[in-house]
Amino acid sequence: MRQVNLGIIGGGTVGGGVFRAIQRNGALMASRLGVSLSIARVAVRDAKKARAVRIPAKLLVTDWHAVVADPAVNLVVELMGGTTTARQVVLAALKLGKPVVTANKALLSAHGEELFKVAQQHGTNLYYEASVAGGIPIIKVLREGLIGNRITRLFGIVNGTCNYILTRMKDEGADFAAVLADAQRLGYAETPPDLDVDGHDAAHKTGILASLAHGFWVNPRHIYTEGIRSITRQDIEFARQLGYTIRLLGCVKTANGVRHKPPHPHRQSAIQVSVYPALIPNSHILANVNGVFNVVLVRGDVVGDTLYYGRGAGKDATASAVLSDLADAALDLKYKSNRRVPPFVPHERDGAVLSIDDVVSRYYVRLSVVDKPGVFAKIAAALARAKIGISSIIQPEGHEGETVPVILMIHDAPNAAMKRALAQIAKLAAIKGEPVMIRVENLE
Ligand SMILES: NC(=O)c1ccc[n+]([C@@H]2O[C@H](COP(=O)([O-])OP(=O)(O)OC[C@H]3O[C@@H](n4cnc5c(N)ncnc54)[C@H](OP(=O)(O)O)[C@@H]3O)[C@@H](O)[C@H]2O)c1
Repeated sequence: MRQVNLGIIGGGTVGGGVFRAIQRNGALMASRLGVSLSIARVAVRDAKKARAVRIPAKLLVTDWHAVVADPAVNLVVELMGGTTTARQVVLAALKLGKPVVTANKALLSAHGEELFKVAQQHGTNLYYEASVAGGIPIIKVLREGLIGNRITRLFGIVNGTCNYILTRMKDEGADFAAVLADAQRLGYAETPPDLDVDGHDAAHKTGILASLAHGFWVNPRHIYTEGIRSITRQDIEFARQLGYTIRLLGCVKTANGVRHKPPHPHRQSAIQVSVYPALIPNSHILANVNGVFNVVLVRGDVVGDTLYYGRGAGKDATASAVLSDLADAALDLKYKSNRRVPPFVPHERDGAVLSIDDVVSRYYVRLSVVDKPGVFAKIAAALARAKIGISSIIQPEGHEGETVPVILMIHDAPNAAMKRALAQIAKLAAIKGEPVMIRVENLE
């Protein structure tokens, strides 16, 4: 039986999970693939460190160069994280013609275009199933399962930390800061938590899915990203009363209801790629994805809606995704078929991301209003001047000092127009504090 020798860079959470999963199911994989996977070496920073998953000392080294360059290593697995050394590791392996498996979404987001180009130039491949949504095989779904579809919509809850925090805020009526502190204590949130709670991790993953679905590498700088720090328990409660749940949503949409025109009739127009907290209807299945779980809804023009749910992180879920890539890479090595279904094929020459200014959506707006006659007329007039329609006005029970909360549910409107109208409304004497604006996604 052909043997593929793995050089693993990183023996931490995911590296340890992969090591253990190969010990557990390596023989099963060999019987399914006709190729056996053998761990040749594992590079770590500190070979003496105590590890949750024990890796035999004879496999451990601290020099990643030696692992990548080892002629016995024919497949490199990058599980160290970060974007600087990890980029060097991946480039070095690809330039030697060695395929690479990675779980590193930050690396792909920042350098994906370059890395795929180098892989192609050197007749090899870069595999990245574990970089998005942990154990959910969403890359394979987009790359192979839905290859006959144009992807018209993709919505993802792809950051487990944010979903955990929002779920507990809703279930317990708790504040963001209190739940975040608890999540950090329990190990569900990093310290500092910025990458997760400010939406950047979700943006890395959403960008990778958008790139794959739409055939051009989405520049992470073009992904509009809002995190969940400003979500209050008050908004979660008002949303609940209105029949909605707030979730951090990655959105990839083709341009319906947006103002941008395609550059050429046969080419696609700009797509929306963004990450923001959104109100989603309680009746929708995405509103019922709780805790650290991830979900991705993909709508194809042939298949319709499809849904993928599972653990988005953790050593075992992520190891499962790495093993799937190892199987593909091992078969590609065995049959020299590295053009089978390429991991990423740029095919959209004029692909572009729509500016958030032009993105049209519905909105939930909360204002703190001094309850005086004529205020509503002034608010309605400011929105009317911007050609924005109100679908309902709700004044929930209760007040905060001299003000009362007022909720406006707004019809479809471009983001820029909405921002301008809210800036006008904020200047009214009867409005106290900054208006709160959260998008409403009906997932239609
Ligand atoms: N954790 C998850 O649930 C999860 C899920 C999906 C994707 N990912 C991605 O998987 C990757 C790894 O994450 P992780 O959670 O496993 O990280 P981790 O626990 O911090 O492990 C990182 C490993 O890399 C090693 N390392 C760091 N710098 C090195 C260097 N210069 N040379 C050799 N080894 C080096 C570390 O060595 P020492 O052990 O000696 O410190 C450690 O073993 C990241 O890209 C992450 O985004 C993680």
